[in-house]
Amino acid sequence: MEERVTISVIKADVGGLCGHTEAPEELLDVCDYVLEEAVDEILIDYYVTRCGDDINLIMTHRLGIDNEKIHGLAWRAFEEATKVAKELKLYGAGQDLLAEAFSGNVRGMGPGCAEMEFVERPSEPVIVFCCDKTDPSVFNLPLYRIFADPFNTAGLVYDKSMINGFKFDVLDVIENKQITLKAPEESYQLLALIGNLERYCIKRVHRAKDNEIAAVVSSEKLNLIAGRYVGKDDPVAIVRAQSGMPAVGEVLEAFATPHFVPGWMRGCHWGPLMPVSEEDARPARFDGPPRIMALGFQISNGKLIGPNDLFDDVSFNRAREKALEMADMIRRMGPFQPHRLPEAMMEYTSVPEVLAELKERFVETEKVEKAEKLRERGEIE
Ligand code: 13P
Ligand code: 13P
Ligand code: MG
Ligand code: MG
Repeated sequence: MEERVTISVIKADVGGLCGHTEAPEELLDVCDYVLEEAVDEILIDYYVTRCGDDINLIMTHRLGIDNEKIHGLAWRAFEEATKVAKELKLYGAGQDLLAEAFSGNVRGMGPGCAEMEFVERPSEPVIVFCCDKTDPSVFNLPLYRIFADPFNTAGLVYDKSMINGFKFDVLDVIENKQITLKAPEESYQLLALIGNLERYCIKRVHRAKDNEIAAVVSSEKLNLIAGRYVGKDDPVAIVRAQSGMPAVGEVLEAFATPHFVPGWMRGCHWGPLMPVSEEDARPARFDGPPRIMALGFQISNGKLIGPNDLFDDVSFNRAREKALEMADMIRRMGPFQPHRLPEAMMEYTSVPEVLAELKERFVETEKVEKAEKLRERGEIE
């Protein structure tokens, strides 16, 4: 059997300098140290980076997805980084480590995780996306564009191996169920679901012709796991490109016209998704705007060759400007919808506590009207 390689991207926010803006070098160094020790034992290769206050561990190995050793290694790296974050009194130190101790898999314990296993093609281009100040539904629109919209991806029309389309695994994050829909045949049904960012989230995309894995998103909904506000589940995704998959530039094209995503400031606001370089992945204004970076790798016998910092290019300058214009526009709304998220998406923020205090002061409108009439007639004070 052909040898398979797994790429695991596991991320967590274990503290920011300052506030929720950036994970400092000190934390990345600790993670680097922990992963370096594992090279040749369980890892083939790794790359540590950050997007805002989220640390991303990009790892390759031969142990398959959901492997206890790999997840344990990531957990250990985050635990060690948390120790340093606590010493430095960084903001939200240990924010995403929700469990007391590791128990086999990081899923459900706080960190986000996107993994895929495949037989390495003769040339294997892979793009790792890392985000801050948003949530996993951020990928719904771009993944649709990349794998289902021929106006974005010319290859859907011109490449014989893609002409049968792609299959999308969609999660219902509230009921914890999933469904698979195929584009182009079921693209309207697919849109009917994934256009609702409150509830549905693309988890995986497979090429229809041979079921080859094409994309995977970390779809942990941290706030649903924690049941209280703990920051958001800033996501990561892995997308394979070229040779029967969308070209690298077709994948990137989906981010050239920014869209609004949930998760800005206190996890309570919509904001434009701004594509940025690794260097610029440091949210500032209103803790944002939400941002995404794209790191391109060639996988060579499991080694990560790269990265190429793909949004670090003039061709994305206009997208950045557009995102900033959109930010100006929506910021004017302040605490009003549609800048503010709908009620259901705020359930796990700190907002319900504020509203709870007002609950008992509400009076039935009918009673108020009756009292007013009585007062008019001088029957009450
Ligand atoms: P605190 O300042 O109360 O932590 O909340 C603001 C915030 O940034 C939410 O994480
Ligand atoms: P993070 O989820 O990136 O920690 O951000 C929390 C927040 O509320 C910032 O305004
Ligand atoms: Mg944070
Ligand atoms: Mg974050």
